[in-house]
Amino acid sequence: MTQRPYIVGNWKMHGTRAMLAEARAIDRAAQRHMRVEVAIAPPFTLIHPIHREAELIAVGAQNCHEADGGAHTGEISAGMLADAGAKFVILGHSERRQGQKESNALVRAKADAAIEAGLRVIMCCGEDEATRDAGGAVDFVKKQLTASLPKSVEDLEDTAERLTVAYEPIWAIGTGKTASLADIAEMHAAIRALLVELYGEEKGSDIRILYGGSVKPENARDILGTAEVGGALVGGASLTADSFMGIALAAGETVDS
Ligand code: PGA
Repeated sequence: MTQRPYIVGNWKMHGTRAMLAEARAIDRAAQRHMRVEVAIAPPFTLIHPIHREAELIAVGAQNCHEADGGAHTGEISAGMLADAGAKFVILGHSERRQGQKESNALVRAKADAAIEAGLRVIMCCGEDEATRDAGGAVDFVKKQLTASLPKSVEDLEDTAERLTVAYEPIWAIGTGKTASLADIAEMHAAIRALLVELYGEEKGSDIRILYGGSVKPENARDILGTAEVGGALVGGASLTADSFMGIALAAGETVDS
């Protein structure tokens, strides 16, 4: 089954209730892009308000705790996210791996908790510039993913159905630099092979692999037209409906009508 391109906005730590108007505009505009699946991951505080108003787009979170609940001051569980209307959670983003020192094992524990709670997971991976320059990017990403993907959940098939992978080279995030199309194609092919190995031919082939890192309306068409690119995880350019939907438009153009 070929899936629709998946365009996900990662609002990071941006957005107060004033941004609800932008979310509304994105939701309305999504009606003109039905060949594309559009979603946004706002800060926790905006998940429920956006969920209540959105008709088409899914809303998700940017993190969750690995436990169901308990004495974890300041944390939010996957079940709480689902209760607030989140349909998915972004996990293993490099800003959390680096800034909050999240290990592969912790990221996997969070992914297992999210799948248990009925959420979909967008699992991020990506190398830093030194690793890319040393020629070790593909190996690094394969190891990182192998150690981070949800696996300990009993039903692997069910897990695969709720999984998306996002390849985001760290040096391309928020920098205006993007990986070359050849490098993107090489990495996405390696990730596809790994997913087939882990989840079997049928399920592993269906998991969408997003590219992220300075995706904008101007470069989206080329990136989204690259083999094995099933969508984009968009930071800065997802903060206004205009630029975000410019990317959705480019995604729609890559789909055969
Ligand atoms: P960017 O961020 O589009 O601003 O580079 C992407 C991301 O971090 O998900």
